[in-house]
Amino acid sequence: MTLLRDHDLATAFDHAAPRYDRLTAANPGYHADLRRSARRLGLPDGGAGLRVLDLGCGTGSSTRALLATAPRARITAVDASAGMLGRALAKSWPDTVRFLRLTAEEVAATAREEPYDAVFAAYLFRNVSDPDAVLTSVRALLRPGGRLAVHEYSLSGSPVHRALWNAVCRGVIIPAGTVTGDRALYRHLWRSVLDFDTAPAFAARLARAGFGGVRTLPVAGWQTGVVHTFLAGGGRPGAAAAR
Ligand SMILES: C[S@@+](CC[C@H](N)C(=O)[O-])C[C@H]1O[C@@H](n2cnc3c(N)ncnc32)[C@H](O)[C@@H]1O
Repeated sequence: MTLLRDHDLATAFDHAAPRYDRLTAANPGYHADLRRSARRLGLPDGGAGLRVLDLGCGTGSSTRALLATAPRARITAVDASAGMLGRALAKSWPDTVRFLRLTAEEVAATAREEPYDAVFAAYLFRNVSDPDAVLTSVRALLRPGGRLAVHEYSLSGSPVHRALWNAVCRGVIIPAGTVTGDRALYRHLWRSVLDFDTAPAFAARLARAGFGGVRTLPVAGWQTGVVHTFLAGGGRPGAAAAR
């Protein structure tokens, strides 16, 4: 199967957007895991005085997780899908949160005024055509000492976790996506995870892109070995903190 990319992927997310929150609510631990990964950024003082970027914010679940851990930060949330952003914008947010329709590839332009102190990217990197190019842009967006947290479906490398992912997709995710009319997107989810870097490979990709202090941390529940948090500092070893 060919993976969905760029315009086709944004169109698939536009179509799925009205049902997206209901499907993620049915995934045990989805929101708790996002909050854990956001907390792992280790932003001090509730994020007071900090600028934080949520890359691929979707309907705002990752933005909400950032807001819970850094309620005093200024948060910019971007996404390529108008449908997903529309759902995010329909929710209630403080004035410190802004949403922009931009691709991850375009986002470097938003840091012209001032760099970001932290970037959070949840379930994004598997979807971009050129993850190395996006990582290079993200590094350029971060101030020295800034932090990156990537929360991603990235298999451990163990055949057990690969088999678990196949079973969950065949038994639950693709049937649920078929019922809602979004079969192509949820088949993309399945295949994109199988095709994407394992957790050690993505950690190595981060290091190759110039990030320092790269750490890989598991999440809890059924997604252990399937989803990981990757922490890194923008080129200065040891900048990322785990909690
Ligand atoms: C699986 S959703 C995750 C949304 C949110 N971060 C969350 O945790 O619920 C992935 C999001 O990434 C967006 N996306 C995919 N490729 C993108 C790109 N190249 N640039 C910007 N957004 C992209 C999609 O439109 C979608 O809203």
